[in-house]
Amino acid sequence: MNAQVMDGKTVAQSVLERVKILSERFWEHTGRQPGLAVIMAGDDPASAVYVRNKKKACRRVGIAFFEVHLPRDADESRIMEQIHRFNMDDDCDGMIIQLPLPEGMDADYFLEQIDPGKDVDGFHPLNTGKLWLGTAPIAPCTPAGIIKILEAYNIQIEGREAVIAGRSAIVGKPTAALLLARHATVTLAHSRTTRLDEICRRADLLVTAVGRPGFFGADHIKPGAVVIDVGINRIDLDSAGPKWLALDSPIADKLRENGHALIGDVHPRAAIERASYFTPVPGGVGRMTVAMLMHNTITLAGIRLGIDPGDSPV
Ligand code: GUN
Repeated sequence: MNAQVMDGKTVAQSVLERVKILSERFWEHTGRQPGLAVIMAGDDPASAVYVRNKKKACRRVGIAFFEVHLPRDADESRIMEQIHRFNMDDDCDGMIIQLPLPEGMDADYFLEQIDPGKDVDGFHPLNTGKLWLGTAPIAPCTPAGIIKILEAYNIQIEGREAVIAGRSAIVGKPTAALLLARHATVTLAHSRTTRLDEICRRADLLVTAVGRPGFFGADHIKPGAVVIDVGINRIDLDSAGPKWLALDSPIADKLRENGHALIGDVHPRAAIERASYFTPVPGGVGRMTVAMLMHNTITLAGIRLGIDPGDSPV
């Protein structure tokens, strides 16, 4: 079987175009742009890239971007101060705390301080509860992006067996809630699951979010399955690299050229040979996350101001 690639870039672009229209409509109603605040502490290099991408996306769709960057050793009260400031700021419609926070800081404690109506990540416990109840106005960005990309390719969810590998609060658990709400039979597997390969092989729809480069191989994929790879793992030529050089794929070229490359949780050859559809890394789900953040921001902005943003909630 030669699987069809699900192009996250194209789907994300169409989401961003839609958000641009909605944010112009918001401007016509309110005389201002919708606003998104990002609070980052420390200097995690991956986080810095993500924040830059969020800023770029905001500029592209007409969302005002408020960025606060605190040092790694910032006092916790300074983070709290910023959260409360944006909670009160009428020009701010959505707020995120970029994760991970520096070691020793309790992210859950801060997430609970965000006004649930401005919680564009959907990580506040109230919104987590609402997601499982089916009453949340938005869903966490990566899981929402997974649903959007499945819909874009007309993949049937109802009645199908879905296996999600990885039980994080950011991806695994909310993805389970969204697929369940769409009538899939959901298994949430994790690092202590025994016979993971057998369980994954049952899946019509396999979502991998474990952060282990190329871990899922042919043994994990049922022929014809739809494979959504959420892993974004950097491999370096000097350490894990040599094993990937023999691969007939752009990953090997990237490794040779740059000394490093990005690879998903799924072995690229296994995905191509076994799946019917799969999301590539890069260019798959990663692209969707930022687009859905923009979508969540305009949705919450509309709700906050009593303006129908024109889209049904995810
Ligand atoms: N770090 C990695 N993914 C995310 C995300 O979706 N939201 C936030 N706030 N931080 C992240």
